[in-house]
Amino acid sequence: MDTVNTDEPSGEIASATFEESLRISNQIWPDISVNPGKYRLLTGDRPTGSLHIGHLFGSLQNRVKIQNFGVTTFIVIADYQVLTDRDTAGAVSGNVREIVLDYLAAGLDPFAGNTFIFPHSHVPALNQLLLPFLALVTMPELDRNPTVKEEIRAAGLRTVNASMFTYPVHQAADILFCRANIVPVGKDQLPHLELTRKVARRFNERFSPEKPLFPVPHGLLSDSPTILGLDGGQKMSKSRNNAILLKASPEETAKLIKGAKTDSDRRITYDPANRPEVANLLKVAALASGRPAEEIAAEIGDGGGGKLKGYLTEVLNAYLEPLRSKRREFAKDPGCVPNALKRGIDRANEEAEKTLEAVRKAMGMRYL
Ligand code: TRP
Repeated sequence: MDTVNTDEPSGEIASATFEESLRISNQIWPDISVNPGKYRLLTGDRPTGSLHIGHLFGSLQNRVKIQNFGVTTFIVIADYQVLTDRDTAGAVSGNVREIVLDYLAAGLDPFAGNTFIFPHSHVPALNQLLLPFLALVTMPELDRNPTVKEEIRAAGLRTVNASMFTYPVHQAADILFCRANIVPVGKDQLPHLELTRKVARRFNERFSPEKPLFPVPHGLLSDSPTILGLDGGQKMSKSRNNAILLKASPEETAKLIKGAKTDSDRRITYDPANRPEVANLLKVAALASGRPAEEIAAEIGDGGGGKLKGYLTEVLNAYLEPLRSKRREFAKDPGCVPNALKRGIDRANEEAEKTLEAVRKAMGMRYL
């Protein structure tokens, strides 16, 4: 195995800007169901906690949809990446279990077929790709990554360890080890994807100019709206305590929604620019009920925030019930999570070893 399919679904186009990424992403979407064999997906999450409804509507549902089109789907649980902004990884194994249960409940199927879930700590050859890749990027490139800067700011770090600056290169290894060509991500991950594209191009130019070894992957952006936290002002996030977890009970869900921030205008209208908190509740109600947000707003009208929250609680709990009951079933079986990961780890190791061997050969590092 020396060469890989570097067919680019939409040609070799730099996607330096958000608009450009969005344009290419919008070209790829309709082709996926027509030509699933042309694509290989990799995406992933940091195991810092259980997943919430923002993850479900923003990314999990898309992964499941693409999986069901028949695309080979790799999901990395980026456990080493947990160490970028904290000293201990103590909670990691519990978080990995919770995340895998969330994946299964949402409909990813790692037990059969083409879906592979693995923590990158268990795939040594993937991690080894980091070493040649580090030689393909410059310090200023690492230093000016806007997402890294924002994470340092948000975590309030006084000293920053080197993995905070190098994890985007590790992420290139996560993506390129299996030669994925589509990477569903949120907007904040686009700088990392841009770096991955540079690593792929530079490796190909420097070490395998005749037959490019790596595909240059494309980001796949979701069309679902960003869900804000229940405090209204910022993204939903477990660490900000403003999230509805997938595994929450109906009662916990009701309580969280009851405490959600609204505004002083009693009449409910859908106005995302001027009334972000109310609009956010309406958006979630729309996603859960399948009805337009404006229609729900008009129906509630003078009923006010209380009525809106009652309606949201009802439709969201009803929508999540099948997922939650599946999750409870999976959680009862202690073998479930290890079995799901075992198959993913085995396949990821196979892919990574093949790729590492091809990389060593391309670099002229074969001596036996
Ligand atoms: N950095 C991503 C996050 O914070 C997680 C991640 C790690 C990832 N490796 C990846 C995402 C590869 C997409 C592709 O959520």
